[in-house]
Amino acid sequence: MRISISLLQLSLGLLLAINGILLHCQAWPARYTFVVQETPYKRLCSTKKILTVNGQFPGPTLYARKGDTIIVDVINKGNRNITLHWHGVAQPRNPWSDGPEYITQCPIQPGANFTQKIIFSTEEGTLWWHAHSEWDRATVHGAMIIYPNKDTTYPFPKPHAEIPIILGEWWKEDIGELYTQTLQNGGDPNNSSAFLVNGQPGDLYPCSKPETFKLLVDYGKSYLLRLINAAEQEILFFSIANHKVTVVGSDASYTKPFTTDYVTIPPGQTLDLLLTANQNPSKYYYMAAKAYVGGVGIAYDNTTTTAILQYKNHVPSSTPPLLPTLPAYNDTNASVHFTGSLRSLADKNHPVDVPLKITTHLFYTLSVNTFPCPNNSCVGPNGSRLAASMNNISFMTPTIDILQAYYYHVNGVFGTRFPNFPPLLFNFTAQDLPLYLQTPKRSTEVKVLEYNATVELVFQGTNLVSGDDHPMHLHGFSFYVVGWGLGNFDKDKDPLKYNLVDPPLKNTITVPVNGWTAIRFKADNPGVWFMHCHLDRHMSWGMDVTFIVKNGKETQAQILPPPPDMPPC
Ligand code: C2O
Ligand code: CU
Repeated sequence: MRISISLLQLSLGLLLAINGILLHCQAWPARYTFVVQETPYKRLCSTKKILTVNGQFPGPTLYARKGDTIIVDVINKGNRNITLHWHGVAQPRNPWSDGPEYITQCPIQPGANFTQKIIFSTEEGTLWWHAHSEWDRATVHGAMIIYPNKDTTYPFPKPHAEIPIILGEWWKEDIGELYTQTLQNGGDPNNSSAFLVNGQPGDLYPCSKPETFKLLVDYGKSYLLRLINAAEQEILFFSIANHKVTVVGSDASYTKPFTTDYVTIPPGQTLDLLLTANQNPSKYYYMAAKAYVGGVGIAYDNTTTTAILQYKNHVPSSTPPLLPTLPAYNDTNASVHFTGSLRSLADKNHPVDVPLKITTHLFYTLSVNTFPCPNNSCVGPNGSRLAASMNNISFMTPTIDILQAYYYHVNGVFGTRFPNFPPLLFNFTAQDLPLYLQTPKRSTEVKVLEYNATVELVFQGTNLVSGDDHPMHLHGFSFYVVGWGLGNFDKDKDPLKYNLVDPPLKNTITVPVNGWTAIRFKADNPGVWFMHCHLDRHMSWGMDVTFIVKNGKETQAQILPPPPDMPPC
């Protein structure tokens, strides 16, 4: 008995080794062509034209190895202006290819092309790419898989197979129209019609069952799920019936393995999850995702998307698949418990490098706001127009990009007076805040950072209009999340509890509803880098700030020259 098991293990090990060699010898293309085009897709019983890359939804996966540079030729054959962003890629010295519209480039017009260079550096694991123009990323997105470089391997047992699981969000209406209508009427966007797993709503929606995404597994094997939340407007809970998962990475950085029966994932983030297929193989299991909404009185899509986990070579019983139990929609404890459990791997091969001496202290409030609307004719609260802000500044998008204005010294595009602290101090998380605090200022102010500044930034959620969770994303950097809490940040007590030993390294972090999150990073990447809430409505309402990181002295510490084909403004 014992012998046969070890023989099995031996042959398994050999197989894995062969697999590993194959993986390491494989050459990924270094150049891709992305044709942006209108493509008809049928979901939920009706067909509409969506913007896609190469006709695919979700879009094609990009493969690279740690430290690679790849080129993407973007050809806009669609009928709208678009830009593409490589979410979580630091792009050292190369803001030119980063993508946020009117921040680092003007959009690529219909009929135009733009060649983008993606420079990977420390990232290893799962990231994704997406459109960064209006709300086009709803359908224009795909996975990016960054393998270890030639001489290294995963810090966990090599999985039998790897599967991207892309969570998305679908509207029956046209996304361009949804965006225009939302910003015109001043209210919340319509709820989506469905959430998706790998482009499919799943069994619980009409006209969807035959196409539900199926994951076929071999009993006893382990799988790496590369989970990406590409939804536009919702943080999601995700779980698999009867199966636990082990988190081993997030945002292209390894984590201490942590086993759980559900995860919380905000738009923008990725999670690498190990799944062992070790449950009753003659049953079907659902993996499912639904919204988490921490704010009170906020409308959301309350549907559930599912995919099926099925064991190979087993005839499943005729009973319907088991549904996992997901936390309740408003379960903030479940959300923060998961997010607060993430830790950097912090071993000898993956050391942490959290800044300990801080040169630049920043404290930014995150608020949903309102502007008065002529004759109270908007559809926000009491006829107002919904807005959002950081430090009471609601970001106004310029008409030529900030990077170009900065690089070529064009005056009048942006100001450099983004405040380090909120202009008004009040009890940010109090229940009934006075109405006059609701109205922010509109402007295009940037925050300038010295090259190599060591930055601590505390985000403070406020309860203006309605407190909400905000998944904050920074371009150009990953940052360490050194602390978080509910309520107001206490500048004397809270820093004493910071985790400076193994804080997770992230590019997107959820600031909990009426709570705070502290991050640290070193401003060693010269360029123009956007920071914003990754709920698209908050981003479009102005919960954004742009950082300019100055050049250092050496050439190696300066922005690269612009490519010849930057889209004109
Ligand atoms: Cu994933 Cu600025 O975006
Ligand atoms: Cu937000």
